[in-house]
Amino acid sequence: MARPIRRIALSTGGGDAPGLNAVIRAATLAARNRGWDVVGIRDGFTGLLTPEEYPDGGIIELTREHVRGIAHLGGTIIGTTNRGNPTAFPVEQPDGSWVEVDRTPELLEKFEQAGIDALITIGGDGSLTIANHLYEAGLRVIGVPKTIDNDLERTSTTFGFSTAVEFATECIDRLFSTATSHGRVIVVEVMGRYAGWIALHAGVAGNAHAILIPEIPFSLEPVAATIMERELRGAKFSIVVVAEGATPKGGSVSLLGKSVGQAERLGGIGEKVAAELQRLTGKEARTVVLGHLLRGGTPTSFDRLLGLRFGAAAVRALEADLDGVMVALDPPNVNFVPLNEITARQKKVPLDCDTMLTARDLAINFGDSVQY
Ligand code: F6P
Repeated sequence: MARPIRRIALSTGGGDAPGLNAVIRAATLAARNRGWDVVGIRDGFTGLLTPEEYPDGGIIELTREHVRGIAHLGGTIIGTTNRGNPTAFPVEQPDGSWVEVDRTPELLEKFEQAGIDALITIGGDGSLTIANHLYEAGLRVIGVPKTIDNDLERTSTTFGFSTAVEFATECIDRLFSTATSHGRVIVVEVMGRYAGWIALHAGVAGNAHAILIPEIPFSLEPVAATIMERELRGAKFSIVVVAEGATPKGGSVSLLGKSVGQAERLGGIGEKVAAELQRLTGKEARTVVLGHLLRGGTPTSFDRLLGLRFGAAAVRALEADLDGVMVALDPPNVNFVPLNEITARQKKVPLDCDTMLTARDLAINFGDSVQY
């Protein structure tokens, strides 16, 4: 039997996703209803590691008042970062260079000093890898999966994804009228890292004519052929959705760069695709990059409810003495899976899944030469 819980901490890490505040609200209320204290660590673990940078000391009490009316808000009230990995914490040297330092022992000590008995950490694969590391180092940890990209294994979906798809679909809907009016090709670049979930779901829901995803290295000749066939049928416009991680056949992913302590930044493929389609078809092409707009706004009711369910389930897991697990959606239930089973690989779009089959039946082009 683990020691009784009196005080827990919540942290949010990596890119924000709509639904984070719903998790914070549910976890706070479920914990307080059990008589536990709840604190939030600012910006991942940075609030604990560099408290001097925060007027409030980097940790805030999360009371019922703090979490009132937040479930419908995008972002995270405790802040997040994708530069705060405690196992490779970026530290600037006197000569201006940066080195990455493992601050795990110090972080564990700070949890102890703050009287924190357990951590609920909400994040994507990077944050859940850190969560697993902290669990193996002796901290009591429950992980909550979050990402707009939907690329995490062992949970049927993550919160944030539904909101991102909803917004991307609305944007595609809006682009139809301007594309039609001008008879243009419009290329819409969406986030998703190395998985094509957002592009596929928004592209199919939004009736795109071509969708380029990382799971299928693309050629643009078949896409250009689709555009020209449409032209011959009198449809002088086309919409192409491209995932930021999509790669040309034999080529590499388009990168915006990488800064210290951060993952590679993907982006720029939309512009390249538009330029090449313009060259191949002779039609005017434009690019719209949805980027971080996909991470903002009010979570859909699906994401809000999932966030609330995950937050409450994380507290139930601690009460049941579970440790080193992630809450996961296994419809219709939420269950618990070992943290170390999640981070081993990314969840990609299976090419034989029903949404892919639907897209093929609708003759949506994927930049490959599948014929109908
Ligand atoms: O993982 C979520 C995500 O929004 C990805 O889709 C995207 O590649 C990345 O984060 C962007 O991160 P940043 O906030 O560092 O620009």
